Amino acid sequence: MQLQDLLFSQGFGTRRVCAGLIQQGHVSVAGETVADATADFEPAGLLFRVDGVEWQYHERAYLMLHKPAGTECSRKPSAYPSIYTLLPAPLRQRPQKGAVQGVQAVGRLDQDTTGLLLLTDDGQFIHRMSSPKHHVPKVYEVTLKHAGDERQVQRLLEGVTLEDDPRPVRAAACELAGEKQLRLTLTEGKYHQVKRMVAAVGNRVEALHRSKIGGLALPADLLPGQWRWLGPADLDTLRP
Ligand code: URA
Repeated sequence: MQLQDLLFSQGFGTRRVCAGLIQQGHVSVAGETVADATADFEPAGLLFRVDGVEWQYHERAYLMLHKPAGTECSRKPSAYPSIYTLLPAPLRQRPQKGAVQGVQAVGRLDQDTTGLLLLTDDGQFIHRMSSPKHHVPKVYEVTLKHAGDERQVQRLLEGVTLEDDPRPVRAAACELAGEKQLRLTLTEGKYHQVKRMVAAVGNRVEALHRSKIGGLALPADLLPGQWRWLGPADLDTLRP
């Protein structure tokens, strides 16, 4: 693949901007500046630097982000900064079918919810992970306002009705993890679902953190606001 096309595919700007970056000496491969925008490289796994910052070629982008509190999962946030401001520009500018689209969050977390959020530029992956048919379990660590009890846990497991749907929604798993701590697993993602389910059993969510999606746990060393690429082994843990 020509270096200008390779940079373009990774979100470094239009083909013309990418050609300019290369011709002006901003891009190096294996420690050597490459000034020929049409130079050919095998893209798989290629490491390159743009203005000294190392990048690895990824045909598709799959990432995890530790979403901090006080951020919105929207490109046009209304009150808080967007999670997309936490990502480097190339990830926000990756082209998709010719248009600049960047990676997108797989589902949304509320502004005050923290924890594991996946992002990708693979539309089929978003569809698969979000589809209720696939039942991908998501684990939430819930801090309650009032002490939780076994009766609340049983009701969450048996199912509660929310005002917009007569069908009961139930937790796939639920356990007390402390006096005011609940660990709740859901396989669907309705609007404010955890908060509404907890309210339906007479308690209230004080803080909400997503710790796991499928078999993928938020790594302890990924701090709020940090992101990382998902590798093939991570993606395997997400398969139903
Ligand atoms: N349920 C909620 O209520 N909020 C979230 O952010 C995620 C699940």
